[in-house]
Amino acid sequence: MDVNKIRQDFPMLQQTMQGKPLIYLDNAATTLKPQSVIESTKSYYEQFSVNTGRSDYDLAHYVDEEIIAAREIVAKLINAEAEEVVFTSGTSMSINMVAYGYGMKYLKKGDEILITQAEHASNVLPWFKVAETTGAVIKYIPLEEDGRLTVEQVEKTITNKTKVVALAQVTNVLGFLIDIKAIAKIAHKHGAILVCDGAQSVPHMPTDVKDLDVDFLAFSGHKMLGPTGIGVLYGKYDLLKQTDPFMTGGGQTAKFDLCGDVNFLAPPMKFEAGTQNISGIFGLKTAAEYLLEVGMDKIQAYEEKLKRYAISKLKKYDNIKIYNENSESGIITFNIKGVPSQDAASFFNSHGIAIRSGQHCAQVLIDFLGEVATCRASVYFYNTKEEIDKFVEIASKAEDFLDVYF
Ligand code: ALA
Repeated sequence: MDVNKIRQDFPMLQQTMQGKPLIYLDNAATTLKPQSVIESTKSYYEQFSVNTGRSDYDLAHYVDEEIIAAREIVAKLINAEAEEVVFTSGTSMSINMVAYGYGMKYLKKGDEILITQAEHASNVLPWFKVAETTGAVIKYIPLEEDGRLTVEQVEKTITNKTKVVALAQVTNVLGFLIDIKAIAKIAHKHGAILVCDGAQSVPHMPTDVKDLDVDFLAFSGHKMLGPTGIGVLYGKYDLLKQTDPFMTGGGQTAKFDLCGDVNFLAPPMKFEAGTQNISGIFGLKTAAEYLLEVGMDKIQAYEEKLKRYAISKLKKYDNIKIYNENSESGIITFNIKGVPSQDAASFFNSHGIAIRSGQHCAQVLIDFLGEVATCRASVYFYNTKEEIDKFVEIASKAEDFLDVYF
């Protein structure tokens, strides 16, 4: 993998911030986009700006074909069948579709939904809603002292009343890689489904839904080089058939009558009511092609190496507290001792470095860490060792932040 060559593809990496070369370390929030993704997204508006699935002329046929091809390439990325790929607006919508379309339909009073304190709000709040409406109960699987979820704890917490286990494969603050395959097996043994939040995993490692045996998998385009407002819900085909559409409208029905009898189309069309985010689908297709071309295994290995390098350097400084030294992904969660995380982020900003600070949409985890907020630096495969060196240099100077800054 030639990182310097890859960097040429990303216009934003040629940019400055605060008059310094931009060092973008907020990839868990969203990733930068290569020129090819920008071009294909734009090409829809410039050359093919017509609707899909409705019209019989060349342009409309072209758009239909591109959407079919996009579904196929996304399916290839996660080793699914094309008809198991539903286009959504992103991870939040995908999980809400499962919560409302499956959870609300099948769960009842006393059933259990298992989540953890490390989940992103998108994988907590929809389940709260299901619990509130159906009388199901939310149970938190205990985490280890460092925030990791073990298979043993899942085994201890699950019961035959558990109907849904909903977990991120990689958590968005601590970045631990969860053994989803083993947990899916346990869930299935107890008659539960496994809903996987793949927002922080699919963009960074090989994903094989058949091997993992997950029932549903949600992820976002914008965290994997694609445009915002486009994402994916993967579901096993039989489960998609059993799930109700969250939204209803044009393009998803075979027929309906004045008495209210409705026949929905088969999945995935059943879930795609209304005109879709077509330019987003164009961009997502190119993003998936780009990732497959680089190689997901190479991306994972590179990011892991970069993260290890950063940790080994950061650990030399007493002013830095790291919360997830041993997690596998490219996410580094830390604080500069005695410095509020937002002040620290502003200090990094003044040196052209973009990191995230705050609660990272995982409020429940912050209670677990006993911190009001943290800083988070997250790498992608276009980041370099030189960028990490600069990031560590600035982190090491931030101890006396107010003195340094003013
Ligand atoms: N979900 C994104 C994050 O974790 C926004 O930062």
